[in-house]
Amino acid sequence: MTAMCGIVGYVGDKSALEVVIEGLRRLEYRGYDSAGVALISSNGGSGTELATERRAGKLANLIGAIEERPLPAATTGMGHTRWATHGAPTDRNAHPHTDCTGRVAVIHNGIIENFAALRAELTAAGHPLSSDTDTEVVAHLLEAAYQDSDGDLAEALRRVCRRLEGAFTLVVVHADAPGVVVGARRNSPLVVGRGIGENFLASDVAAFIAHTRQAIELGQDQVVEIRADQISITNFDGTRAAVNEYHVDWDVSAAEKGGYDYFMLKEIAEQPRAVADTLLGRIGADGRLQLDEMRLSPDELREIDKIIVIACGTSFHAALIAKYAIEHWTRIPCEAELASEFRYRDPVLSRRTLVIVISQSGETMDTLMALRHAREQGSLVLAISNTNGSTIPRESDAVLYTHAGPEVAVASTKAFLTQLVAVYLVALYLGQLRGTNYGDELDDVILQLAAMPEKVEKVLETMEPVRELARSLAGERCVLFLGRHVGYPVALEGALKLKELAYMHAEGFAAGELKHGPIALIEQDLPVVVVVPSRQGRDVLHDKIVSNIQEIRARGAKTIVIAEEGDDAVVPYADMLIRIPPTPTLLQPLVATVPLQVFACELATAKGHEVDQPRNLAKSVTVE
Ligand code: M6R
Repeated sequence: MTAMCGIVGYVGDKSALEVVIEGLRRLEYRGYDSAGVALISSNGGSGTELATERRAGKLANLIGAIEERPLPAATTGMGHTRWATHGAPTDRNAHPHTDCTGRVAVIHNGIIENFAALRAELTAAGHPLSSDTDTEVVAHLLEAAYQDSDGDLAEALRRVCRRLEGAFTLVVVHADAPGVVVGARRNSPLVVGRGIGENFLASDVAAFIAHTRQAIELGQDQVVEIRADQISITNFDGTRAAVNEYHVDWDVSAAEKGGYDYFMLKEIAEQPRAVADTLLGRIGADGRLQLDEMRLSPDELREIDKIIVIACGTSFHAALIAKYAIEHWTRIPCEAELASEFRYRDPVLSRRTLVIVISQSGETMDTLMALRHAREQGSLVLAISNTNGSTIPRESDAVLYTHAGPEVAVASTKAFLTQLVAVYLVALYLGQLRGTNYGDELDDVILQLAAMPEKVEKVLETMEPVRELARSLAGERCVLFLGRHVGYPVALEGALKLKELAYMHAEGFAAGELKHGPIALIEQDLPVVVVVPSRQGRDVLHDKIVSNIQEIRARGAKTIVIAEEGDDAVVPYADMLIRIPPTPTLLQPLVATVPLQVFACELATAKGHEVDQPRNLAKSVTVE
């Protein structure tokens, strides 16, 4: 089984191997446990044959194996990078998987839930299964289905898909069908790239953006057949499907490292642009917000009496910040909830509940399941996503896209900042629409929001001391992060970044909660990062955290304090002071998070870790 792998398929006149390997390189962030390719080539006579290679480990291992034992020239092919769930990441479990005849090859992303029954059926029928994966059953099912469909590979795949339960993207080739690649999807991503004299299939447009920016969304339960000059899309029942084609508004340079050592460094640096792009066109000349694109009518929005914001990981931290902003600016009760917990606690939902789901990838399975549950209960769902055409926005009632551009590093950075911008926009828009008590404050905050790209830029210009500090802490075992109010989710985010990149024990706490237990963790020289709230309108909060800093310092902690320029109250208690520009309290996460990203990235690099592809992780988590 594979959970969130990268898939590429190609038919055209170029070297399929080169196109596929290049595509896999761009998709390696999706999974890097093993990789493989399948090509359909001439067998030297009048026939064609299937050639495959697969290797455990990173793509480089596969490339090395192909260099040692070159594959035949081919213009039809497909490739896969895997993130394993069940079935160890070995050569044997790597994709592609083939049938008994060695003429059908299958790659797969997702989980086939009824694979045990299918496997038993195939074994009883005499098919030898040689891997621990669910994917292999598809190859053997296709073997017979291809015969029954008179050599129509798309029809064979439709027949097989009708028998499968679970989530899957499948891409298949057959040695008897040169010049044809067929794909299918259910609850897992697959996009089609339309080229000239060549066509592509991929988990994500990044895989083919160097060749074409014309893309087609493949709908739920659809099969696509690509040939060099033809794309046909059908539903699983064989009926013709409507085609939704779009132009990708970023180019190949956005998916390249652009001179940076890591994508993460590039993506951190891109944040001012990403924030600006996400604001673009959404603040009118009169200072009022224009979010008609969300496709929710003002009447619908006025009716709302409760909001629940749902997400996972870093996106969940954006959801926590959304709660503070929404309740303050709209006075609508708001909860933030982990997507993986949401539907299992039988939440109270109604037609007047607005559920906001936040997902960079738009494919996170926990979030998708939460959104489906909310819609089944009749609630309105608004998606905040960075990925055009992905499943979560498509299944939602409304969508507000962030414009971060492609985020390749597994650790989310620019996507997080743009998610914050999106939730601020939604909260302020609702506030405007419903005429809350804070009219003047809203106008002022909108102006301040427009100024955030410059402030983020300013923070980035002053990061050298943070990098030095990170390097000096590379030998530490543990770092704590404290915050209050919106500084608390920022502390959680700082801790998450350090865990996932530096593999260090890192915890974020609400500073006020420390005295209820976690303060026992403080020991001599333990590094503790404290996010100090702005003084603007929040004096009490500020003073409380200054006391918290004193408490931990008195117990030996090494205090690393993130505070606004001009905040002198913290100076006596800070072993290291990181300055950020003065910003209204609710907007402060946009600047306070940046040093924490830089800190984690540098510390992980100092420890010799691969920051773009941390161990055990994948960018898009398409299993529950
Ligand atoms: O694509 P999503 O925003 O739905 O992803 C959610 C999380 O998996 C993601 O934010 C994850 O926590 C990041 N790797 C954190 O850096």
